[in-house]
Amino acid sequence: MFKFGFSKGVSISRTSLAEIFTKGFSTQHGRKLEGKVALITGAASGIGKATATKFVNNGAKVVIADMQRQLGQDTAKELGSNAAFIACDVTKESDISNAVDFAISKFNQLDIMYNNAGVACNSPSSIVDLDLALFDRVMSINVRGVMAGIKHASRVMIPRRTGSILCTASVTGVIGGLSQHTYAVSKATVIGIVKTVASELRKYGIRVNCISPFAIPTPLVMEEMSRLYPGVDAQRLVEIVHNTGTLEGENCEAIDIANAALYLASEDAKYVNGHNLVVDGGFTSFKSLEFPAPDQVVC
Ligand SMILES: NC(=O)c1ccc[n+]([C@@H]2O[C@H](COP(=O)([O-])OP(=O)(O)OC[C@H]3O[C@@H](n4cnc5c(N)ncnc54)[C@H](O)[C@@H]3O)[C@@H](O)[C@H]2O)c1
Repeated sequence: MFKFGFSKGVSISRTSLAEIFTKGFSTQHGRKLEGKVALITGAASGIGKATATKFVNNGAKVVIADMQRQLGQDTAKELGSNAAFIACDVTKESDISNAVDFAISKFNQLDIMYNNAGVACNSPSSIVDLDLALFDRVMSINVRGVMAGIKHASRVMIPRRTGSILCTASVTGVIGGLSQHTYAVSKATVIGIVKTVASELRKYGIRVNCISPFAIPTPLVMEEMSRLYPGVDAQRLVEIVHNTGTLEGENCEAIDIANAALYLASEDAKYVNGHNLVVDGGFTSFKSLEFPAPDQVVC
């Protein structure tokens, strides 16, 4: 067996080194959230519902908090006894506080808080036409709702000195020009919130991260698309959304965000904190110069 020499006569075997190196490697296969309790806002539909399903399938108990009562109850029923629904409007701090308390009374603890509820907005594209009443309404859901979620999750996570907080941001908050200003500002703010809150909560072993999805044809996007293209059938609208992607052969889907959320919520991401996990097939990483082909340029 090889020996590695260290100064002052210290030596360590290759086997010991390998043991140290592999200590903590995940051995979890498919049950990454066994024994964990998660609260997900906006989980009656789209990304939140896909994530709730993924979390339950990985052993978690999940509270679905959403404004849409019937849809939320149906989702919880679909997921079985490891899911429960609570009506929650994230613009009301008392609703968020109740949802956190409900998670604890129902499932005894809160390990994961996913602040995912959000809305799009149909607002004019120019800054000179900015509708500030609409701006306030969108910020009250997409930003204030996230802050309230983090505040009340922290209230119960700090005493336990553990927890994972997730938020849904967006590629529209990463680079400019992808949406009108109001939505883009709300999502850029979520990325900022994660950084500032992570700087405090790290002291308690609580991680705070966000995910920035690319366009996915969930009800939120499909409603916007129907407004933009009245009369066009849903299948064609889905195609238009998917055609905006840059990664050949794949489309961005809710399950991709659920997989990212599972990673960030689990022990696999135990040292990932203050991070914005962009799930966009590389869209925000590059631009193409689009040079004309040499035979198209006249000398
Ligand atoms: N779909 C996309 O392309 C995309 C891309 C980037 C980011 N996002 C973000 O992902 C998140 C989830 O959206 P989605 O695409 O799954 O849309 P969705 O419409 O399918 O789901 C959004 C859910 O949030 C709930 N919700 C809205 N306002 C609420 C409130 N005040 N209180 C509680 N619940 C509320 C809705 O009832 C709905 O169930 C949003 O934050 C959205 O901004 C979506």
